[in-house]
Order: sequence, then structure tokens, then C-alpha cells
Amino acid sequence: MTPSFTKRESSPSPGRQPAPEAKLVDAVPLLDLHRQYLQIRSEVLAAIESVCASQHYILGAEVEGLERELAEFCGARDAVGCGSGTDALWLALAAAGVQPGDQVLTTPFSFFASASAIVRAGARPMFADIDPRTFNLDPTQVECCLRRSPHDKLRVLLPVHLYGQCADMDRLQHLAGEFHLSVIEDAAQAIGARWGSEPDKARSAGSMGISAAFSFYPTKNLSAYGDAGLVTTNNAEMAAHMRRLRNHGSPRRYVHEEFGWNSRLDAIQAAILRVKLKYVEEWNDARRQRAATYDQLFAGAGLTATEKTTAAERTESAAPIQLPQTSAQAHHVFHQYIVRAYRRDELREFLTARKIGTEIYYPIPLHLQPCFVYLGYLEGDFPEAERAAKEVLALPMFPELTEEEQCRVVESIADFYC
Ligand SMILES: Cc1ncc(COP(=O)(O)O)c(C=O)c1O
Repeated sequence: MTPSFTKRESSPSPGRQPAPEAKLVDAVPLLDLHRQYLQIRSEVLAAIESVCASQHYILGAEVEGLERELAEFCGARDAVGCGSGTDALWLALAAAGVQPGDQVLTTPFSFFASASAIVRAGARPMFADIDPRTFNLDPTQVECCLRRSPHDKLRVLLPVHLYGQCADMDRLQHLAGEFHLSVIEDAAQAIGARWGSEPDKARSAGSMGISAAFSFYPTKNLSAYGDAGLVTTNNAEMAAHMRRLRNHGSPRRYVHEEFGWNSRLDAIQAAILRVKLKYVEEWNDARRQRAATYDQLFAGAGLTATEKTTAAERTESAAPIQLPQTSAQAHHVFHQYIVRAYRRDELREFLTARKIGTEIYYPIPLHLQPCFVYLGYLEGDFPEAERAAKEVLALPMFPELTEEEQCRVVESIADFYC
């Protein structure tokens, strides 16, 4: 197969070094943070130096600056920095008034923290199946679940914007309104993602629920150099409550009105995130461009179905790879580029042998995790989440990924199926 491609033009923003030319090597990493670091190294080191010069390492001006900038970026009134995305979910649930014995409805197909934070807030997770096209919580399944039986203890609907694509917030918010549920977005993977059919009126991830949790884990589209997280909200009272909760429930020094915990954000992480926030839209655009390149390369290689392919024709030999699908209303930021693949595990081994990085997000749906046995779910309860867990494969995706590397990934997959 000889896929054709044109050279991508990019003009780096002022203050940033051009992306280093990737060597024509045969290894293709799933993610290479080094290439990003080389572009922003001097700015990042200056930001760290400035924090060291101030000797103010926790909360303070850098954290407040980041909170202001991120609230504005997401179109939210307030933002509260904290120690991780997991803590951000926990803060959001606690500030929403979730109590022991309450229930929270979420997706069974996500990172563990989407459900473990519910348990940590004292509540019981409930699941509804996913939409097989987007991997996000399926509003039709949510509706079935809500109408099937009364759920007096259900307080919160917690959709996850998985892989960088927003869940169907129009339909989910409509259902939440009807059933008197608060919506908390798990936006850990979706900084910069938007939802809405008219681009001018699209709403940003982080502005749609009563609050939203972000993670800045080093692999995320906006990432710290350690653990960090943040909650956005349009509710000033909730923001103030979360500020207390992240600091031992303390409104002022040595006064504790309730039990919180220590989840204060480091000034160094905030300073690094402020440097990177300036570039995140550009990086997200680059991810979208690379996703489009993959789509073209897979179609050109005849590895995937076209719109005209019928379900019966979707066999391994006709269409071994199913490409990620984007809802018409979604501005997808491709935190991950996820395909469904026939003989996924064998393909992964083959690519590993060729030094091509891949990952499975996520191999075990949450309702089948050993620690959730007490919830009483069984295999077969959420067939789409279970099927996704068997079929999904994340391919190399990051803003500096080159077309040569993408060609090598697609050529190798073609070699596996030929
Ligand atoms: C969907 C989702 N929710 C929550 C989290 C938790 O974030 P953190 O790792 O920063 O605690 C992650 C991180 O991987 C995530 O992907």
C-alpha cells in the first residue's frame, strides 16, 4: 500500500520553538510528550523559575490565575483547582450535595475514577449502556433506566465526554430536567470540546452541567507535569464550597466547619498549565487534523467500511477496521483516536512487535470490575460497553505525530489483515 500525503504546514506561535522534525524511525509511540516539551521548554522553565522565586508553592496567585483563565476558556463562571481529576469529580459530587445512600447514574465504559469518585462521595453508582457509535452514555438507555422503575435516591447524572467527544448533552440534560437530576460532566478527557449543531452557539465542555471535572494528568490534551485537576461551575456558592472542601473544609485558618480533605493545587503545576493553555486550541486542531488523516489513510487502504457498506458486508476481509464516529453536534478534540478492530488483541501484538504503540481504553467495563460486584450487575447487562471493551484500540495520537508515522501505522495494520 502506498498512501499519499501532502506536507502539513504549521506556523508556531510566538515564544514557541517549531516542532522538532521527527526522524524517519520505525517506532511510532502512542504519545511522545518530549516533542511538546522541546517546543515550550524555555517558557515552562521560566514559569517554574518564577514560582520558585516567589516561594509560594500552594494555591496563591498562579492557581487563581489558572482558575480565571480556565473558567473563561470553558465559558464557566468559576473554576476551582485541585489535586487531580479524581478529586475534581469528588469535589463536584460533594458540593452538589450527594450524600451517603444517594445514587449517581453514569456510563459503564470509562476510566475507573468516573465511578470510584461516586463511591468516595458515599453514593452508589448506577450504569446505563453506551451508544456504540460514540462510546458515550446513550440517552435512550438512560431514559429506559429512568422510566423502568422509580429511583428516589438518584440525584446526579454524570456523563463522561469520552476520548474528547461530548456526550449527547441536549438529550441528557432534557432527561435530567424531567427527572430532577443534577448534571455533572466528567470532562477529564475533553478540554476544548464543544457540543451544539450551530458552531456559534456550541457550548463548551465544562459549561453545560452544574459543574464539570477536568484532569490534567500528563497524558491529557492539557497536561501538567504531575497530578492536577479542576472543577468548573456556574454556581458561585458551589465554587466557594469546593474551595473550602479542597482545604480541609476550612473557611479560614484553623476553623473547620465540615470535613474536607487536602486537594490543593500546586503553584508550579498551575504555572505550567497556564503556559500550555495558550496552545491547547492549536494542539486540539492538530489532533483533529491527524484524525482526519487517519480516516483518509484507512479509507485509501480499503480497511474500513464506507457509508454504503451494509451490516452484512462488514466482515473482517471487507472492513476489518471501524473508524471513530463523530456526532454532527460534536466538536471532537481527539484525546484518543479509537478504532474498533477485528482480532483486536492479535493486531495489538503485531503492532507492538513493529514498535507501534497502542492501548486499550478500557478492557474491563466498570460494572464487571471486581470491586463493583456488590452492585449486582452481571455480564450481559450492558452489551455495547462489553463489546467496546473487546474491540477498541487506541492508535498513536498527539499533535506532533507526523504523516509518515501515521502512514506507517496504517500500512502495518494493512499488513496484518492482508
Ligand atoms: C474519564 C476520566 N475521568 C476521571 C479521570 C481521573 O483523572 P486523574 O487521573 O487526574 O485523577 C480520568 C483520568 O484518566 C479520566 O480519563
